[in-house]
Amino acid sequence: MRVGVLTGGGDCPGLNAVIRAVVRRGVDEYGYDFVGFRDGWRGPLENVTCELGIRQVRGILPRGGTILGSSRTNPFKVDNGVEMITDNLVANGVDALVAIGGEDTLGVATKLADRGVNVVGVPKTIDNDLGGTDFTFGFDTAVNIATEAIDRLHTTAESHHRVLVVEVMGRHAGWIALHSGLAGGANIILIPEQPFDIDHVCTLVERRFQLQYAPIIVVAEGAVPAAGTMQTVDGELDAFGHVRLGGIGDRLAREIEARTGKEARTVVLGHTQRGGTPTAFDRWLATRFGLHAIQAVHDGDFGTMVALRGTDIVRVPLIEGTGELKTVDPAQYSEAEVLFG
Ligand code: F6P
Repeated sequence: MRVGVLTGGGDCPGLNAVIRAVVRRGVDEYGYDFVGFRDGWRGPLENVTCELGIRQVRGILPRGGTILGSSRTNPFKVDNGVEMITDNLVANGVDALVAIGGEDTLGVATKLADRGVNVVGVPKTIDNDLGGTDFTFGFDTAVNIATEAIDRLHTTAESHHRVLVVEVMGRHAGWIALHSGLAGGANIILIPEQPFDIDHVCTLVERRFQLQYAPIIVVAEGAVPAAGTMQTVDGELDAFGHVRLGGIGDRLAREIEARTGKEARTVVLGHTQRGGTPTAFDRWLATRFGLHAIQAVHDGDFGTMVALRGTDIVRVPLIEGTGELKTVDPAQYSEAEVLFG
């Protein structure tokens, strides 16, 4: 059996741990050989491959990024994209494909599986917004990076009597903001699932200063003000039609400064949240995902995605991962609201 492996979408801590586990178990236990496809779906689309074996995966467990490269290539936006992929899989003697990615990469995998391609998915994203799994790998690392940043920003906020707005990633889900905001003791957390009222935010800011503390506001990049309360700007679209987010932190800080007269600064954590070495939890999860993904290949259980349920790794249909975005439940947000202000 010859297995192709690709990583698509935004890079994410733990990708290399998955690749290593897939290859190690595939070679050692099943005697498979592997081919790496470069840069997500661009690899099988344009037939860009690389060697992938035990030698290539040595020492990569703690390394961030992906040794296979990544891109946001959408083969369904290319004329005859699907035929090009199936032809290149045949040309490389590939019997099965392990696709490691988020909503977009696994969305393509789902459609290819429907067209008869033997594919198993592994859920990756710092955003934690895929269905069917309790957590995606990469999320824990992003939350830890954001939490450390918030911890550090408390001291500047207090010393300078400033409002500090921390903008975190997460696309249209507020998981990173909610988890890091709670862990870092933020005074206000704003998430896309709950449009915010700027008047209320300013009231909380003022209350915080009355208590002789300075507020830290964690805002998810996809957070939006309630309709008609604050101006927003539209971003560009990527190949999957997703808007490029970012900038809400800055606009929020300016609005708070104008309304309360308190100095407000913004820190945009950006790609630092996706960079560097994965946490122990993400290495554990990514490794187990990889071990189970290659087992799914061995069992011929295609069109599935490995998923975490409690402490078990299970298989679910790919569509469960990508069919619906997993967003923050309002009850969980209300829990955190008790600590605001
Ligand atoms: O999906 C991961 C993610 O980091 C999102 O949180 C963010 O909106 C997006 O990717 C940024 O993508 P890019 O690096 O392509 O700008």
